[in-house]
Amino acid sequence: MKSRYESAKEVFVDSVDLDDYIELESSLTAYQQLEHSINKPLKMILLFGRPGTGKSILLNRLHDRLKYQKEIYYFDTPAINEKEFFHKIFKVLTKKTLPQNTEVNFSALVNYCKNMRGKREIIIMLDEAQMYGPEMMEKIRLLSDSRAVKFIVSLHKTEDEDLVAKEHFQSRIWEVVELHNASLKDQTTYIHKKLLKKNLFEIANSIKEKNFKLIHKFTKGNYRECNKMMFTIFEICEYYDKNEPAKIRYDRIPKRIIEMAALKLGYIHV
Ligand SMILES: Nc1ncnc2c1ncn2[C@@H]1O[C@H](COP(=O)(O)OP(=O)(O)OP(=O)(O)O)[C@@H](O)[C@H]1O
Ligand SMILES: [Mg+2]
Repeated sequence: MKSRYESAKEVFVDSVDLDDYIELESSLTAYQQLEHSINKPLKMILLFGRPGTGKSILLNRLHDRLKYQKEIYYFDTPAINEKEFFHKIFKVLTKKTLPQNTEVNFSALVNYCKNMRGKREIIIMLDEAQMYGPEMMEKIRLLSDSRAVKFIVSLHKTEDEDLVAKEHFQSRIWEVVELHNASLKDQTTYIHKKLLKKNLFEIANSIKEKNFKLIHKFTKGNYRECNKMMFTIFEICEYYDKNEPAKIRYDRIPKRIIEMAALKLGYIHV
């Protein structure tokens, strides 16, 4: 028989699926900031935050909500090379496909954009933009100078670098929107809603306030870490449910299991 924990575990498989989008205080704030920035005469918008703070899902949400009102495009991962990237841009702008073996004439593309000014307004979202090199970024900036194409550049911030301090983000063309790890409240809502969406009411109720606090402490409110943690907790529950049911109770999650998950994920050490 399928353990009830198996379904709970599946809820926390990491994915960027819009059907699973949850309105949280932090995501709503960032969403509104982005939407507001889009409507300003800006050229570049920087969306940044640590890995796993929800940048990709937010961009997907924005795309989904605006796609019928605006010309908006989402580029998920950077192209393998510059040539391929400009082929993609060319297609978005001209709605034509260039033959494989031709190079995009960059200055012609810039002129094309200048001519579009006032006629079309295109928004291009570049996810994972930390993978674009400085030269590419410079060209992207040149395209945005036309004011016909606006870029939302999403980057993840790592422990050791202060992105905003980097040279090309210093100029005033940038507007910055930052995503943070979740507060305890947002993380609790996130876990609850994810489970409730799959009708796992009993399991949702079995996670008590002190459990949420502990999970938040270990994961620091990072959504990806939270997914891993919840997955592991339910994996352990599933194991007991199948093999040693006497050790588990359906009405609450023992602290011990959360600690075992934390140990397995390396948040704590023996
Ligand atoms: N508001 C939200 N609603 C539903 N799921 C969310 C939300 N925010 C984050 N998540 C989930 O958290 C996980 C991490 O989010 P996402 O992949 O968007 O992060 P990211 O900031 O793009 O990370 P990276 O920098 O590594 O690309 C995903 O499984 C995503 O579905
Ligand atoms: Mg991402």
